[in-house]
Amino acid sequence: MIKTTRILILPILILLFATQTVAVDIGMAGAVRRKTRELDTKVLDHKNATVGNTPVVVNSPVTIDEKVEALLAKMTLDEKIGQMTHPDSASLKGREEDIKTYFIGAILSGGNSDTSDNSPVSWADQYNLYQTYATQTRLAIPIIYGIDAVHGHNNVYGAVVFPHNIGLGCTNNETLVEQAAQVTAEEMTGTGINWAYAPCIAVARDERWGRTYESFGETPELVKKLGVAHIKGLQGTDLSQKPNVVACAKHYMGDGGTNQGIDQGDTVLDETSLRAIHLAGYVDAIAAGVKTIMVSYSSWNGIKMHRSQYLLTDVLKNELGFKGFVVSDWDAINQLTGPLSNQIATSINAGVDMVMMSGNYASFINTLRDLVEQGTVSQSRIDDAVRRILKVKYELGLFDNPFEDRNYLSGIGSSAHRDIARQCVRESLVLLKNNNNTLPLAKNINKIIVAGKNADDIGNQCGGWTISWQGDGGAITTGTTILQGIKNIVSTGTTVTYSVDGTGAAGSGADVGIVVIGERPYAEGTGDSETLALDTVDLTAVNNVKNAGIPVIVILVSGRPMILDTVLANASAFVAAWLPGTEGQGVAEVLFGDYNFKGKLSFSWPRSVDQLPLNSGDADYDPLFSYGYGLTYP
Ligand code: GLC
Repeated sequence: MIKTTRILILPILILLFATQTVAVDIGMAGAVRRKTRELDTKVLDHKNATVGNTPVVVNSPVTIDEKVEALLAKMTLDEKIGQMTHPDSASLKGREEDIKTYFIGAILSGGNSDTSDNSPVSWADQYNLYQTYATQTRLAIPIIYGIDAVHGHNNVYGAVVFPHNIGLGCTNNETLVEQAAQVTAEEMTGTGINWAYAPCIAVARDERWGRTYESFGETPELVKKLGVAHIKGLQGTDLSQKPNVVACAKHYMGDGGTNQGIDQGDTVLDETSLRAIHLAGYVDAIAAGVKTIMVSYSSWNGIKMHRSQYLLTDVLKNELGFKGFVVSDWDAINQLTGPLSNQIATSINAGVDMVMMSGNYASFINTLRDLVEQGTVSQSRIDDAVRRILKVKYELGLFDNPFEDRNYLSGIGSSAHRDIARQCVRESLVLLKNNNNTLPLAKNINKIIVAGKNADDIGNQCGGWTISWQGDGGAITTGTTILQGIKNIVSTGTTVTYSVDGTGAAGSGADVGIVVIGERPYAEGTGDSETLALDTVDLTAVNNVKNAGIPVIVILVSGRPMILDTVLANASAFVAAWLPGTEGQGVAEVLFGDYNFKGKLSFSWPRSVDQLPLNSGDADYDPLFSYGYGLTYP
């Protein structure tokens, strides 16, 4: 019956198509399929569509592409623009109904937009509230919800926080990186959040950059390998199945190559070098099936990435065949010249499909609608953007299963997850010096003095993008500090004392001193540094312990190599621990020989800041420690 009706209706539709603006997708598998065209104003109600007096039988689309086309054909311009609108959750506080009013299709919680009590359940409740409004709209298109889960579900109190990418780069272990991403996806899924703005596949070329620690390393080879592993861990083999979440390769492109490492600066390179260093990661990420790509704030040879049609459309979408969607960075389009209308038109016509914004979504929506009605932004560009967004939502299984799975809540911060994070910590540590085999320490050593501001501070050892955007010192979440790890591992007869500046070391009778120094948390441009110099409090702590006449083991907790000067000379042993996250026990397990060092430097270590940028392969390459360097126990 249905088959007969279809055959009858087809000639009528072909005639109709030539004369009217009605678009109907009768996506019949195997039959002639009509290309849909946009209804300029009114909505075609598929349920009651007729041609003459004959009801149109709209086939239930079978492929994702057919589902996308069928849905797109039903959408009004406002419903389409809503899909391209990506506001922060803070701007929706008390206005959640706007999700329904404006057909908002994507929401994020930026680094400082935690829920009221930041408990996992409160995140699940918030997701549920948003998704309820979204699925009450006429077409019930679910939202996708993004967050910077860049080293675990790091906004959420109690979630496992992994080492930042610079440390994972030193593991050079793609299996482990994939496992870490899988855990992150699981801890996200309990809260409903289904889109991670990760991996950052920046190839950081100048450690003065405040985001160096978000990079796996200074070479495209290392970044490609671990970026792909991270994407696989997040998206899994079947993205439509929970706990898999959508990944986001960022920041496209050249974010790590800016002049002097200035955040959001200008990457001045010929195109061949740009492609070789900064595009390579995206080629492999796309081949690995990454579904979203975030645009960089930075520029290439003076052209802001958010306005580069050549790189966003010609290269990324046409040449590389990227079929997912391109999302802008936070309020990044507002860095473009001209009024908002120009910023929107320029970025979307360049190839941005979804615009991330801290607030004022109504202004964005109204302005973009005007731009389309004026013809400044074409309907086909809107359709391309929305098609890409809908396709990812279908691939994510959102239409079949839009709500959170609270069964995953119990896994957040679980010991099984922490075990994997602890292995990441162990394998990320790099031994740079070990005179007289100072390490490994014996667990039954008589007395240890521990010093340094980063020895007993979970916030400092996690770094930025932890609980808040910039991170913070102190007991900001649950986990084990390095000092606690030391106390846990030594024998009951061992005395461990702690003084942040090392006073009391002299005359303490300690056999050895462990001084944990380094950086306080920062994120993005806040971390840009012209000196990479250590704090004076760190130098004081090392000197005070050194002056006690005992071997000094220095552990550097930092987001990058730093200028060491006398500290290295004063150390009997020196360990780069990067930003290990919540599992400080992993540091103690290697210090006391339960495990050997495995980490190899993912960045060249400069002798002085004047050498920067300093990367393996440079003609005058003369680092303090080379890319790939790392000692082990004999
Ligand atoms: C930030 C970062 C980006 C992050 C986004 C959302 O400014 O550049 O990495 O994903 O905003 O927080």
